[in-house]
Amino acid sequence: MNYVTLNNGLKMPQLGFGVWQVKDEEATTAVAKAIEVGYRSIDTAMIYQNEKGVGEALQQASVPREELFITTKVWNSDQGFDNTLRAFDESLQRLGLDYVDLYLIHWPTPNFDQYVDTYKALEKLYHDGRVKAIGVCNFEIVHLERILAECEIKPVLNQVECHPYLSQNELKDFCAKHDIFVEAWSPLQQGGEVLNNETVQQIAKAHSKTSAQVVLRWHLQNNTIVIPKSVTPSRIEENYNVFDFELTENEMTAINQLNRNERKGPHPNDMNRR
Ligand SMILES: NC(=O)c1ccc[n+]([C@@H]2O[C@H](COP(=O)([O-])OP(=O)(O)OC[C@H]3O[C@@H](n4cnc5c(N)ncnc54)[C@H](OP(=O)(O)O)[C@@H]3O)[C@@H](O)[C@H]2O)c1
Repeated sequence: MNYVTLNNGLKMPQLGFGVWQVKDEEATTAVAKAIEVGYRSIDTAMIYQNEKGVGEALQQASVPREELFITTKVWNSDQGFDNTLRAFDESLQRLGLDYVDLYLIHWPTPNFDQYVDTYKALEKLYHDGRVKAIGVCNFEIVHLERILAECEIKPVLNQVECHPYLSQNELKDFCAKHDIFVEAWSPLQQGGEVLNNETVQQIAKAHSKTSAQVVLRWHLQNNTIVIPKSVTPSRIEENYNVFDFELTENEMTAINQLNRNERKGPHPNDMNRR
């Protein structure tokens, strides 16, 4: 496992396990399998409605709490200073934890213009020692600029949709300049077409690896944090086995050139659902 050091000094596994669309009752088995395989970072959210199932796997795990890195997120309808503090308490209770490692704003929802106040609640949680790091998801440069101008603590990362068909180069450059990591959601394009891309498949063949492993390796070598999701035990293992090979510069360039600015999810400016 590779670890990255966030801008507040906290270490975070560069590869984690995502649980969007995993039912609460399935989450315990999936997370237990992931921990058994070696994952130490788990990415959930209030809106996934599986914090309880994730929490059960954490209680049952033989791994000490301090070796685990748990992320959850404040949902759009819970934005605002007081609401966020309440939503955080509720998430913590469902997870059965007394702190989380990383708390994120799930979407900026710019039409409601509450993300600065919401972020200030995250800062309070950080000062109170209830979270080890704070950050954001789906923030465009303009949203990050406001946080940097109006708030005190830099986000440690920005979790955004990112895969070879949506490489997010401009946002990556901005984040790198400000010492903010990019964390890729849907790193495998939700198991989509990119895994059948000829270039990716050829590179996979050359390394005796799968397309998914090549795509994850591309993210890692780009200094991106990844959180692939799977409920399939063999894929949970497959996605973890990405530290025993390296893509060449030419292979990285070839994958970099696949960008189509093509999204699976909504553009953050258009996501104002609560
Ligand atoms: N902040 C946000 O707004 C946001 C939005 C979306 C996601 N996320 C986070 O990011 C995580 C990952 O994103 P994601 O779940 O959207 O997509 P993903 O990880 O790119 O892909 C998951 C899909 O790919 C399949 N898959 C997994 N490993 C595979 C492999 N080795 N070969 C072929 N197919 C494979 C999975 O199927 P099976 O499960 O059936 O194996 C599942 O259908 C989420 O779980 C969540 O934690 C955050």
